[in-house]
Amino acid sequence: MALLITGGAGFIGSNFVLEWLAREQEPVVVLDKLTYAGNPENLASVHSDPRFAFVRGDIGDRPFVAALLQKHGVRAVVNFAAESHVDRSIHGPGEFIHTNVVGTFELLEAVRGYWGALEAAAKESFRFLHVSTDEVYGSLGAEEPAFTEKHQFQPNSPYSASKAASDHLVRAYHHTYGLPVLTTNCSNNYGPFHFPEKLIPLMILNALNGKPLPVYGDGKNVRDWLYVTDHCSAIRRVLQAGRLGETYNVGGRNEMTNLEVVQKLCSILDELRPLEAGRSYWEQVHFVKDRPGHDRRYAIDASLIERELGWLPSETFETGIRKTIGWYLAHPEWVQGVVSGAYREWVAKQYGA
Ligand code: NAD
Ligand code: DAU
Repeated sequence: MALLITGGAGFIGSNFVLEWLAREQEPVVVLDKLTYAGNPENLASVHSDPRFAFVRGDIGDRPFVAALLQKHGVRAVVNFAAESHVDRSIHGPGEFIHTNVVGTFELLEAVRGYWGALEAAAKESFRFLHVSTDEVYGSLGAEEPAFTEKHQFQPNSPYSASKAASDHLVRAYHHTYGLPVLTTNCSNNYGPFHFPEKLIPLMILNALNGKPLPVYGDGKNVRDWLYVTDHCSAIRRVLQAGRLGETYNVGGRNEMTNLEVVQKLCSILDELRPLEAGRSYWEQVHFVKDRPGHDRRYAIDASLIERELGWLPSETFETGIRKTIGWYLAHPEWVQGVVSGAYREWVAKQYGA
């Protein structure tokens, strides 16, 4: 018996694996393609744990996944594997369709074949948990209520459209084939092992390196931030007790504009790594061209998971962001490892000189 964690070498997946092995006895098998975003170093601390296995491979390789499910007697799949960066989806949507839509379809087919052949008790207890995003719901106006699970899907970027398509496929496999699925739609995460193409780690590292802090548009877009281990605890809880076929929104009721986030990061860095002559990291802020189709506001109504499953986040933004900054300051070797030539090429493509 084991959990199969797809995309387990990425940001949230690796946090999930580390937390799982620290709390539970059950083994995990990580299946990860190791794209630019997948990093085996994230899992270095559990490499020698006998309950941990790592397999490099693609969720879109149906026979390979089918053999893996058999070999490890998998009792649940948690699907984190995806292309995840909105800006990259704008430059090149093809990979997003390939992995997030076709890949999820192939994964579902492999799982359906395996699950269908299980004996009754194992079939009954099997779970497929699909990790998705609040971006499938589109963008909110300033005064609109937060997204509930009933909100219409209105994805606006190739990334969110590809995730919405995958959510629909997962739903259809439950409705049509009875596959025991669960879906979570979470807001923006932050924390350790976050790849520095995303707002928070990018700003921390640029600030420390004396580089501009590129704020898109007017900086007033709103995101609803959740510390990554709170997302992991929500996934564990849904896996344990979620109603089959149900979708659970996950969020920390923690809306902030991008400018507020950057201001907070700068003030904590001013305190922990003061610059000379009373200068502030805030002076490095540059307003840059807006993201095309930039969603204005996301906000999650998490009352279903709170009420039904008793889940609540443990971190506030204040505690979570301090932990996050502390982690980046304490792990310069991890940062060096990910800031490769390919990363520099991406930064040049997205932000120019
Ligand atoms: P990430 O980009 O850091 O990690 C994705 C992982 O998937 C990487 O390890 C990558 O190598 C792997 N991968 C990509 N294509 C693959 C394939 N075809 N087969 C196997 N592995 C593959 O992403 P993340 O931020 O950790 O997000 C994980 C999941 O959570 C995604 O599905 C994302 O949509 C969702 N999500 C993310 C956030 C967030 O704020 N980061 C919020 C809500 C939901
Ligand atoms: O809401 C959940 C989603 O959050 C996940 O599904 C995605 O996988 C994840 O990448 C994240 O998407 P966002 O687009 O919200 O995150 P990102 O960190 O790219 O951007 C956060 C906000 O900051 C957004 O309004 C764009 C802005 N931004 C981002 C970057 C990289 C900037 O102003 N400057 C930047 O350089």
